[in-house]
Amino acid sequence: MFMPVGTQGTVKGISPQELLDIGSQMVLGNTYHLMLRPGEKLVQAHGGLPGFTAYPGPFLTDSGGFQVMSLGHMRKITEEGVTFKSHIDGSTVILTPERSTEVQEALGADVIMAFDECPPYPAEREYIRRSLERTIRWLERCHAVKTREDQALFAIVQGGVHSDLRRLSLDLTLPYETPGFAIGGLAVGESKEEMYPAVAFTAARLPEGKPRYLMGVGHPEDLVAGIALGVDLFDCVYPTRTGRFGYALTDDGRLNMNSSAPRTQLQPIDGDCGCYACRHYTRAYLAHLIRAEEMLAPRMLSLHNLRYLHRLVERARAAIAAGTFQPWAQAWAERYFRHAV
Ligand code: GUN
Ligand code: ZN
Repeated sequence: MFMPVGTQGTVKGISPQELLDIGSQMVLGNTYHLMLRPGEKLVQAHGGLPGFTAYPGPFLTDSGGFQVMSLGHMRKITEEGVTFKSHIDGSTVILTPERSTEVQEALGADVIMAFDECPPYPAEREYIRRSLERTIRWLERCHAVKTREDQALFAIVQGGVHSDLRRLSLDLTLPYETPGFAIGGLAVGESKEEMYPAVAFTAARLPEGKPRYLMGVGHPEDLVAGIALGVDLFDCVYPTRTGRFGYALTDDGRLNMNSSAPRTQLQPIDGDCGCYACRHYTRAYLAHLIRAEEMLAPRMLSLHNLRYLHRLVERARAAIAAGTFQPWAQAWAERYFRHAV
């Protein structure tokens, strides 16, 4: 399953009805952003994220540790938690395992994530080791303060690209027997040659019967590769972000709709897609909207790209069920990379 990212309580430019129409099954929300603005109490006053956002399906919230590292200023990490300056108003905020869990209970997602540290890339091995051990103590604290029985807490395996550290993180995390496990600490700047073996090593050692969630991934080829390695769940801003920049995902690679060719093309982005944009609009019309800086352009490209990733995992699921995943994945990759920009 691919999960669209709704950081601020909205998948940028896409309405809840549109999400349902394109086959979204779960939306990601962010503790870090929503606690700073508008504050989790306001979301709670709407009955949690489904009431606040009017998206009636399931939500997963990330715990905030990762966003603090990528967005917060002047952060300081201690055993207690992370102190940082808010990117909204510069105020000093502390995020701890207890506070993250409290916020995530108020936001009311169906799946909540343990508060973890995702070390930057590259980082010293010794730092990664100490950090992953602290992440386990933080997992223990999340577990201890959690009060809601109707929310599933997923643990996050860290360890960077080092298999011995991944093994250590797995050994310390698996005993918690959480209802799902995430593979964290990847897609932070390492090469795919480093990322895929780390995914393979970790996914192979996670329980079969529980969801394996590869956080912050990814590109179409990462979904196909991740599924081959046993990953069940993905999230990434890529489809909406690249859509806002004027790029459309297709089986023939990523189309640059800002370039001159689409301006005169009378076919849809992808005749097999079935999204609203592909059912109604030519490439020429969408290219025109981009050049005219009309807001429908980023909306339609985001919608199409999300549908592309949903359809990609739907096709992967069907191929797995039919016992044809390997040849399907190979044929998909050959075509995708034959034309890729
Ligand atoms: N999003 C992408 N990677 C990570 C990670 O390692 N931890 C968390 N909490 N979120 C992420
Ligand atoms: Zn489409």
